[in-house]
Amino acid sequence: MAAHTITFTVNGAPETALVHSHTTLLAFLREQLGLTGTKNGCSTGECGACTVLLNGEPVNACLVLAVEIDGAELVTVEGLAHDGQLEPLQQAFIDHTGTQCGFCTPGILIAARALLNRNPDPTEAEIKDALRGNLCRCTGYMRIIDAVKDAARTGG
Ligand code: FES
Ligand code: FES
Repeated sequence: MAAHTITFTVNGAPETALVHSHTTLLAFLREQLGLTGTKNGCSTGECGACTVLLNGEPVNACLVLAVEIDGAELVTVEGLAHDGQLEPLQQAFIDHTGTQCGFCTPGILIAARALLNRNPDPTEAEIKDALRGNLCRCTGYMRIIDAVKDAARTGG
């Protein structure tokens, strides 16, 4: 089984790791780096629970191989808070009860973060479009959309 050395940054920290060629980015994050905030819902690119930022773009980590992140910059849900402080987007999810069981929340936060990074003042339609790949079985989605709207309003 082939193994490869990769270098990358995750949540701002430089890292080097040895990965097998078949290991997914999702398994690598959770099992080798211990970054278990990124969730495994379906393993097939359907649910969005595993969404991370890869060079600023949201991707399903279950569909990316770990070897593909060589030289890349990754952000996971663990990288959203700074110095123990939630970022405004995370606080908005709390304020609007945008999270219930929480399983979808890391992926939705990352997808919403990607949207607000490229479009700080999205319409409701743009929010829905940005989150179309993220499934939530609990909230009914409106609270999530309200949270993203609020974060945009407050510059989050
Ligand atoms: S676990 Fe990756 S999309 Fe569902
Ligand atoms: S809060 Fe439970 S799946 Fe979204």
